[in-house]
Amino acid sequence: MVVISCSNRRTALGRRSMELFGNMVPLVLGSAGLLLLLYQLLQRTRHRANIQDAVVVITGASSGLGKECARVFHAAGARLILCGRDRARLQELAQDLKEVADSKQKMHTASIVTFDLSDTEAVASAAEEILKCHGHVDILINNAGVSYRGMILSTHVDVHKQVMGINYFGPVALTQAILPSMVQRKSGHVAVISSVQGKISIPFRSAYSASKHATQAYFDCLRAEMEQHGVAVSVFSPGYIRTNLSLNAVTGDGSKYGVLDRTTAEGQDPAVVAQAVLRAVGQRKKDVLLAGPLPTLAVYIRTLFPELFFKLMASRARKEQRAKQD
Ligand SMILES: NC(=O)c1ccc[n+]([C@@H]2O[C@H](COP(=O)([O-])OP(=O)(O)OC[C@H]3O[C@@H](n4cnc5c(N)ncnc54)[C@H](OP(=O)(O)O)[C@@H]3O)[C@@H](O)[C@H]2O)c1
Repeated sequence: MVVISCSNRRTALGRRSMELFGNMVPLVLGSAGLLLLLYQLLQRTRHRANIQDAVVVITGASSGLGKECARVFHAAGARLILCGRDRARLQELAQDLKEVADSKQKMHTASIVTFDLSDTEAVASAAEEILKCHGHVDILINNAGVSYRGMILSTHVDVHKQVMGINYFGPVALTQAILPSMVQRKSGHVAVISSVQGKISIPFRSAYSASKHATQAYFDCLRAEMEQHGVAVSVFSPGYIRTNLSLNAVTGDGSKYGVLDRTTAEGQDPAVVAQAVLRAVGQRKKDVLLAGPLPTLAVYIRTLFPELFFKLMASRARKEQRAKQD
């Protein structure tokens, strides 16, 4: 008798606990979701505050990703300094930005500084002009770049120097000219648009890939050295983006490639990539891979299974070579 009543009581108690647990689960999950939402909202407001009124320099702002970065940073309230070689195209963009109005957001008129990144002296005097615009720079986005298509066997060493000059020595010279003022203010952010090809090398892109590997290495080093000075460094490694990059690429003899590759034409929307850059800069992210599953997998294969990666690349080189000969 006693045993039965004890077990009945235990069963009733168990049922009640289960009911209580069942009622608590949605409450706990709901509260956690609400807290997460609030946290995300707070983070977003804080990140936007990092951009509002910030002096942001964008190189290569006349086209592609740079142009889209200009649009999103402008919309977020940045004081832009647009850089490139073509003043007319930059003026056109500055005018377009002027016409964008947002009643909720204070927006600023963009400044323009033109220079050729491959000319170190021009970069030095451009940096002085940039610093004169607002007295300082909060965020420097080294975006400008040129691509390359060619076989190493038929590529002149001057082409390697040309690509390194624009993609590597240009951003290094500009960064080093701006950096002392950031260190003095103990504040600043240097971002660079590298590429997935700064993490893995694919055939017939030697000069480009080498320049982006050098970029990754330099800015990783810079990040470590700058942390104690309060200057943040972000490296972005996008996969293919739908821009003019392949059209403007140089070939082994220095001539223009002039072809819109299928991979580029089918690449990511530059406006979407620019939004991702804005978010990651706001969050002061250090190393950002902006690529689809296949290039991301390739980066992991190169790191974890290098022999497999080398075999895959050699087979790709043979196939591409054969396709060119057919
Ligand atoms: N598109 C892609 O698939 C892809 C993928 C990964 C990474 N990226 C990187 O994204 C960045 C932007 O390229 P994009 O795709 O937007 O190509 P894009 O449309 O060809 O734009 C390149 C920009 O760089 C500027 N530029 C080129 N040479 C220059 C020089 N000597 N001095 C100063 N500025 C120069 C150009 O300005 P001016 O000609 O007006 O001077 C232009 O605004 C590059 O660093 C590129 O490597 C692109």
